[in-house]
Amino acid sequence: MYTPFVALTNQTISKSKIKSREIRLRSRPKAMPTEDNFTMAQTEMKPLQDRQVLVRNLFMSVDPYMRGRMNDGQSYVPPFGLNKALEGGAVGEVIESRAKEFKSGDAVTSNFGWREYFVASVQELHLVKREVQPLSIYLGALGMTGMTAWAGLNLVEVKAGDVVFISGAAGAVGNVAGQLAKLRGCRVIGSAGSAEKVKFLLDECGFDQAFNYKTGPTLEQLNRAAPDGIDVYFDNVGGETLEAALAALRVHGRIVACGGISAYNQETPSPGPANLFNMIGKRLTMKGLIVSDFMDRQAEFEREVGGYFRTGKLKNHETVVQGIDQAVNAFVGLFAGKNVGKMVVQLA
Ligand SMILES: NC(=O)c1ccc[n+]([C@@H]2O[C@H](COP(=O)([O-])OP(=O)(O)OC[C@H]3O[C@@H](n4cnc5c(N)ncnc54)[C@H](OP(=O)(O)O)[C@@H]3O)[C@@H](O)[C@H]2O)c1
Repeated sequence: MYTPFVALTNQTISKSKIKSREIRLRSRPKAMPTEDNFTMAQTEMKPLQDRQVLVRNLFMSVDPYMRGRMNDGQSYVPPFGLNKALEGGAVGEVIESRAKEFKSGDAVTSNFGWREYFVASVQELHLVKREVQPLSIYLGALGMTGMTAWAGLNLVEVKAGDVVFISGAAGAVGNVAGQLAKLRGCRVIGSAGSAEKVKFLLDECGFDQAFNYKTGPTLEQLNRAAPDGIDVYFDNVGGETLEAALAALRVHGRIVACGGISAYNQETPSPGPANLFNMIGKRLTMKGLIVSDFMDRQAEFEREVGGYFRTGKLKNHETVVQGIDQAVNAFVGLFAGKNVGKMVVQLA
């Protein structure tokens, strides 16, 4: 699935009049986004000012949370502006620098995804190790989604012996959460939307059990996988799966409220779980997670999870789509389960 990265240096790029394609939001989607909600535009890079850096993106991320930013309204991040380039995680290489902190050829991450080139100030870039390959890992296991998995496990203090159930398990956050929970000595169960994904969880991510939530009622399948109940539910999807987890959790069970993708494209929100009373009867704890709250622990995350990756204990799984003209398809594909592991778009 991963197409080998071909290093491209500034010697191959003429710095004058670089043109960059970018994807803009044309209109706010009502339910499932379509291509009509987006437009492709071309801009020309301006000469660098002092302390500025020109970057060529190599990979950009598409993430479910971006769907929320396409709506108008208040949330934990402001909405995307209409007729402006979208934003999101990206990893690129420095083409030209007028700041001492960066030199041509450096690999950097930024929030300037959805475009081929950009000019940024020093504080908008984060230097990463170019020798770590593929560089797209900085959008996945060693990036925002990997950190979400790690932060979620820490949030509810997952420990050896816990029975942990993860939904959306074959996705970017889910597969890393499962691998990290296994490294902590947990018994790990995952749900995902196809037989291929179930096999992936069992064979490549080391889950103890996995099931396809599309082939039978989630609660029945969860009860079969965990007849004595679960201690932790890592929620990526909400809806029926959250209801099943509330039923299966043991007394003093914990829930990481990480995401609710089953509702992201609903025009009218569905009512909440019918069995919320389990929170009381079983004295459950449910904690909301926003990964950016953990930014002050980034070095600790990089040390721990980067260490697992370097020593082969954690694998990076990704689905790579080619070309900025396919970025919208890749994004919409998240809601149809088109990805195994992290969905990324290769631009260079
Ligand atoms: N709180 C935070 O700070 C934070 C940070 C990052 C991500 N998140 C959340 O974490 C969740 C996972 O994000 P991710 O980046 O790892 O995405 P992802 O899991 O890589 O991709 C989305 C996956 O969701 C599943 N899905 C799509 N529609 C669904 C539906 N109606 N019901 C159930 N599953 C559905 C699909 O897998 P199947 O084939 O298995 O259906 C799809 O592959 C999302 O809810 C996201 O918003 C939260």
